[in-house]
Amino acid sequence: MSRTCIVYSTTDGHTLEICQRLGQLLASAGHPVELIALDAASKIDWAGCDKIVIGARIRYGKHHPDVRAFIERHLDRLQARPSAFFSVNVVARKPGKDTVAGNPYLQKFLKTITWRPTELAVFAGKIDYKKYRLGDRLMIRFIMWLTKGPTQPDACVDFTDWQAVEAFAARIDRM
Ligand SMILES: Cc1cc2nc3c(=O)[nH]c(=O)nc-3n(C[C@H](O)[C@H](O)[C@H](O)COP(=O)(O)O)c2cc1C
Repeated sequence: MSRTCIVYSTTDGHTLEICQRLGQLLASAGHPVELIALDAASKIDWAGCDKIVIGARIRYGKHHPDVRAFIERHLDRLQARPSAFFSVNVVARKPGKDTVAGNPYLQKFLKTITWRPTELAVFAGKIDYKKYRLGDRLMIRFIMWLTKGPTQPDACVDFTDWQAVEAFAARIDRM
């Protein structure tokens, strides 16, 4: 039995949903799990954290800058225990971009950090136009039009491969 802390960086809640699913799966395998929003992560009880997972969404090509700041601040603690990182973005809905090696955001991000997580993953995220502010909605619809994604003004499409999320939970369990 090992206690897993899952830190999430989300704007619209989908990364949190993925973390909640990981949490359910780990808990059902008998492991206590704590989910912590990145902006509350200064309160992590590191002594009681056997494994750590960080999940972060992409917006306008980037993870939130606080993700890298958190990783830099806690590098020694991250390196000292089994750890995992995953990125959530809609580019990953495209075949070949849904892998660690093939996802440009994850690859670019890895070049900016020295932390080498035990496990890495990338998951396709969700488009939910009704949640977005006008400027964001127009921009994302335009990008979706360019990349042959959903453009209906009320589209809500979950691109996540939930079986891949389950497989990632199993990898976290084994690490
Ligand atoms: C304003 C905005 C900008 C986004 N920019 C990108 C992007 O540059 N590349 C990408 O692949 N996905 C992009 N996405 C898609 C998000 O990564 C996707 O919706 C993800 O599920 C969001 O996670 P969250 O619900 O945890 O915030 C963007 C979404 C929004 C709303």
